[in-house]
Amino acid sequence: MKTLTLIKPDDWHIHVRNGAILKTVLPHTAKQFGRAIIMPNLKPPVTTVDQAQAYKTEIMAAIPVDSEFTPLMTLYLTTQTELSEIKKAAESSFVHAFKLYPAGATTNSDSGVADISAIYPLLAELEKYDLPLLIHGEVTDPTCDIFDREQRFVESSLTEIVNKFPNLRIVLEHVTTTDAVDFVLKAGPQVAATITPQHLLFNRNALLAGGIRPHYYCLPIIKRESHRQSLVNAATSGNPKFFLGTDSAPHLTHTKENACGCAGCFSAHAAIELYAEAFEQADALDKLEAFASFYGSDFYRLPRNTATITLQQSTWTVPASYGTDEVKITPLKAGEEIHWKII
Ligand code: DOR
Ligand code: ZN
Repeated sequence: MKTLTLIKPDDWHIHVRNGAILKTVLPHTAKQFGRAIIMPNLKPPVTTVDQAQAYKTEIMAAIPVDSEFTPLMTLYLTTQTELSEIKKAAESSFVHAFKLYPAGATTNSDSGVADISAIYPLLAELEKYDLPLLIHGEVTDPTCDIFDREQRFVESSLTEIVNKFPNLRIVLEHVTTTDAVDFVLKAGPQVAATITPQHLLFNRNALLAGGIRPHYYCLPIIKRESHRQSLVNAATSGNPKFFLGTDSAPHLTHTKENACGCAGCFSAHAAIELYAEAFEQADALDKLEAFASFYGSDFYRLPRNTATITLQQSTWTVPASYGTDEVKITPLKAGEEIHWKII
């Protein structure tokens, strides 16, 4: 049977929530990944180093005993963020980046930033302390078509940020368009991007053709096929600017199967396997290890992992849900087959 051994990967963008959902989802990530960049969009958001410390302690308590997983914490930027908090974060050993959510762009982004130029002094401080800025790159203008929001953000806000802060390390998170890929390619080495499994594997037909499938609804929304192909090309190109970030974003099933369903795909149950499928379809399995295990740690200036994981080409069916009746989470590809499995 075909197997694939990789240096242990890291997930450079994930939502693990807190409380009961954290306990349900974290073991999946801790089993596959050495480290993960933990998104700070809790309710209320994680905005201070002290809050990140408390959140890290809660996460550590949810890691299975046999796992050596390390959570890498981030802080949520707001117009209230103090300059001194950036210094404190830079001096801490466990806060690795700040996250910028345009206000209203996505789940729990209401404390985000409405006018990005208002936080330029904070971006200057991030640049000074060499702390990466992680960006949810979508405009929030309600008149902008939802399929155009990333492209518009890249043209307007992102171009200005990159020009004004040429030494600021930036990760454009979960890129979904040819426009975003092209922007990252043209920018200097300080600008990189994460790519999710759902944006590599599916186009918007998965979400909308033949019925609305809410478990494929995430933000930025999945785009048309030509964009998916650009993402596959970027991920499999061997360019270190593109690396793995699942954006696994668990929501209770009833909040997604709803007249106004939440945005987010839960993919942690089969993250590396889903990427293996995408790379295999592109005949680029030889490029998976660097994308999953090298380029992200290099960008964050952290050592690469040394342990390994092995995937085996074998078919299994994804369960209909994970958790309990009270904490029920429907995974990506629920009830469908996946052709790789971690052993
Ligand atoms: O689909 C998404 N879900 N996109 C995000 O940016 C946030 C995430 C969440 O927290 O659920
Ligand atoms: Zn996210």
